[in-house]
Amino acid sequence: MLKLLNLKKEDKELYQLIKKEIERQKFNLDLIPSESLVPVSILETLATPLTNKYSEGYPFKRYYPGTEIIDKIEILAQKRAKNAFNLNSNWEVNVQPYSGSPANIAVYFGLLNPGDVILGPALTSGGHLTHGAKVNFSGKIYHAIYYEIDPKTEKFNYTQISELAKIYRPKIIVSGTTAYPREIDFKKIGKIAKKVGAYHLADISHIAGLIIAKKHQSPFEFTDIVTTTTHKTLNGPRGAVIFSKKEISQKINKAVFPGIQGGPHQNTIASIALTFKIAQTKKFKKTQTQIVKNAKILAKELKKYKFHLVSGGTDNHLILINLKNKKISGKEAETILEKSGILANRNTIPGDQKPFSPSGIRLGTPSITFRGLKEKEMIKIANFLYQLIEKRQPPQKIKKEVLTLCKKFPLNY
Ligand SMILES: Cc1ncc(COP(=O)(O)O)c(C=O)c1O
Repeated sequence: MLKLLNLKKEDKELYQLIKKEIERQKFNLDLIPSESLVPVSILETLATPLTNKYSEGYPFKRYYPGTEIIDKIEILAQKRAKNAFNLNSNWEVNVQPYSGSPANIAVYFGLLNPGDVILGPALTSGGHLTHGAKVNFSGKIYHAIYYEIDPKTEKFNYTQISELAKIYRPKIIVSGTTAYPREIDFKKIGKIAKKVGAYHLADISHIAGLIIAKKHQSPFEFTDIVTTTTHKTLNGPRGAVIFSKKEISQKINKAVFPGIQGGPHQNTIASIALTFKIAQTKKFKKTQTQIVKNAKILAKELKKYKFHLVSGGTDNHLILINLKNKKISGKEAETILEKSGILANRNTIPGDQKPFSPSGIRLGTPSITFRGLKEKEMIKIANFLYQLIEKRQPPQKIKKEVLTLCKKFPLNY
């Protein structure tokens, strides 16, 4: 139980808001695939006096005094991050990015010039904003070209990626996604990048935990740079790391600091060190295996209720539902689910033209699996979705059952 006694004394208003948010997390089922459920030890490291310290620069090359211990913590985080992915001395890692978007900015700033061509997954095919979307810096500063999923298979078409690469000669090809339910073939994309002389950046933010547990192909053999957030399947603090081949690591480091950031958040870096320690345990790998198992069972059950799953199923931790045959929009489905205590976010699906009125929802199993839910509960959740979206049962009725599940699998906050 988080008591927050000092906060309670100092600021009742904020204390009560935070308590309410904790209660909300306790009594809702979180199916948002990018969210996690960190252990209390992660919260403890975030709340240490490391937050007091300025330490611009890198270990042993700081612009501030008093960084002897901070250096040791940052080096520990680097060492554990590399160990978690079994990386050898050809790879370096930067643990300072404030989050996933700054990590990707730093890669582009370090390796590209304004106007250079980026080839990345389209937003409507599961790409992230920082993969070249028009509204994002990556689509404004660089010349972004997009690859898309095949309308028939609803999976990536590697021949299309290869053809686009030959035509546009990108300086960097981005692989990795934010809403793609299938395994990504990093090997194929790596080959394409090599052929056209492009860097290959794999953004594994969503699947880093699965890769550590060997539940998804690892990109390291086939890439020059790998970025990941630390707060999704990795189940750590909000932050990010950048792995890069030794020969380009100085460019990346300079782009992070002094290029786009100032002082690193050392409390987060300590928490990242702990995240990568936990990620190497048997328990973590077992949980990642269960995340995938749960997603597959949930997908199978949803298909029984004639939900149209993009690509027909899932290989990873997430499911994308095309709701067109259920005559309901993504926004409406999101609202109905939220009223019943189930959180799943609306998402564009292939063919959607308007990102603000998407026709799908995205479901993920990381958070509920960290909470302890297994196959039996996935069958129940699929039925909840059927009752709510197909049968239009009142959300209040399902909410009772959701609450029972939440109480059976309590959070220890
Ligand atoms: C694949 C991918 N890359 C980058 C990001 C950006 O991370 P952040 O929200 O921490 O900036 C996300 C976030 O959803 C993501 O899914």
